[in-house]
Order: sequence, then structure tokens, then C-alpha cells
Amino acid sequence: MSRETLSNTTMSSSRDRLYAEVKSDIEGFLFDSKVAAVFEDMIRRSVPGYGTAVAMTGVIAASYAQDGTNLYDLGCSLGATTASILQYQQAQHCTIIAVDSSQSMIDSCRGAVDSGDAGDIQLVCDDIRDIGITNASVVVLNFTLQFIPVDQRLGLLQKIYAGMVPGGVLILSEKLAFEHQQQQLFTDLHHAFKQANGYSELEISQKRTALENVLVPETLEQHRQRLRQAGFAAVYCWYQCLNFASLIAFKSGSTPDATDDE
Ligand SMILES: C[S@@+](CC[C@H](N)C(=O)[O-])C[C@H]1O[C@@H](n2cnc3c(N)ncnc32)[C@H](O)[C@@H]1O
Repeated sequence: MSRETLSNTTMSSSRDRLYAEVKSDIEGFLFDSKVAAVFEDMIRRSVPGYGTAVAMTGVIAASYAQDGTNLYDLGCSLGATTASILQYQQAQHCTIIAVDSSQSMIDSCRGAVDSGDAGDIQLVCDDIRDIGITNASVVVLNFTLQFIPVDQRLGLLQKIYAGMVPGGVLILSEKLAFEHQQQQLFTDLHHAFKQANGYSELEISQKRTALENVLVPETLEQHRQRLRQAGFAAVYCWYQCLNFASLIAFKSGSTPDATDDE
């Protein structure tokens, strides 16, 4: 699909009640049609700071997008990040390539797309480990790397780095793990955030079980080290809300001289 534009950032979404009833057998979490149908509500009520992270991704992407390059949204789900990139984007002759391995997500995303003239968008249903990354000035992994097996994360980041032009940036948003007592503290606060957003104890507990070994969070330091190992010259954490954070990583030739923000 090409020469299409996301019509708006607001997609209709039903209330997430997927884990509201007792389940005798809790299967591993899947991005299937049931999740796609409630995803917008689910992520907004589950990820503290999600709205800010997505909106700022568009602002940051616009600051580094280069004329005539590709802007990738890897693990695009329903296209919220893609829409944010599109909203702020000013560079000329860019193609936004939004990729997700879930057919249900891509189908719903496509439903929010119509013909327009604000930019070029390609919606691709594929595994981000299998696609080529080329001529990229911006690559976004918003809450997606955490679903890639840990031992395959470096290879993916190396591929992304190799496909980026000088001056390119990677925006990486993830759920974090922490050392020692900070883990319990932030887990409790995340729990409180979900309760405040209307999730019951049962929903929180059953969803946590479903995500075990599916979403594998790592510490900020593990992400920093891996990004440097993949070749990125400078890495900064530009946002954190409880146990969710977003990093920006620069391919050399881009920006600051510093090696990282420690
Ligand atoms: C938490 S959602 C991402 C949210 C989205 N980036 C946003 O800003 O709203 C994770 C997405 O990554 C996708 N995903 C997980 N593993 C993938 C893979 N190996 N290749 C492509 N997409 C993948 C899932 O289907 C899901 O839609």
C-alpha cells in the first residue's frame, strides 16, 4: 500500500475487558483480533505516559527526518505513532513505513487509512526481524523490542543501525526492569496506575500471567549497553514515567558529542 495517509490519530476502540472474567487457563498474550479491537483503550490505561511518548515521538522524528529518506514505525499496532510522525513531519519526499506482524493490527490500521496528500505511508504486515531497513533517517520501536526474544535484540538493532543514514536516530520506548527494591516500588505504582484506570485486581493479575515470558523487560543500562554495542554513538533517555521509558540513539554524524547520558 502506498500514497495513503492516516486520516486521524483517534481510532475507535472498545473498552478492554479481556481479562475481566476468571480464566481457568491463561494463554500467552497474543496481538490477535480480540486485542486489536480494544488495543487503543488497553494501552492508554496500561502504559503510564503513553500519550506523551507517542506525541513526542512525532516531534522528535520531525526534528531528525531528512528529505528523501524512509521513516520506520516498527511494531506499529493501530498506527498511533505513525499518525504522530505524520502530524509533525516536515521533511520532503519521505516514506513512512509502518510494520507489524499482526494481521489484525494491520487490518485495523488500514481501516484508519484513506487517500490523502500529506505523505506516503506503506503498511507492511511482516516480522520486523525479517524486513530490510534502508535509507532510514528515523526508526521508531515504541514498546515493541520488549516482545523480541532477548538474544535476538542485538541483531535487530544492528540491522537497524546498518540501514540508517548518517545523522539518523532511533527512538526506543520500553517497559523497564529495575534493580533491587526499585522493582517492587515501581511495580506497585504501575499496579496503582492500572487500578486508577479502572482495571480490577483480577484483570491486572491475569494479564500479568499472560505477559510472562512474552514481554521481557530489561534495565535502562542493558538497553544503553546494547545500543552502544549496535554502534549508536550517543544514547539519551528523554522520557520516563514509572516503569516505562523512551530513549533516543544517534548514529554518528548526527548530533551531540557525548557518549551517553549517564
Ligand atoms: C505494544 S504494541 C506497540 C504499540 C505501538 N508502537 C504504539 O505506539 O501504539 C507491540 C506491537 O508489536 C508487534 N510485534 C511484536 N513482535 C513483532 C515482530 N517480531 N514483528 C513485527 N511486529 C511485532 C505486535 O503485533 C504489536 O502490535
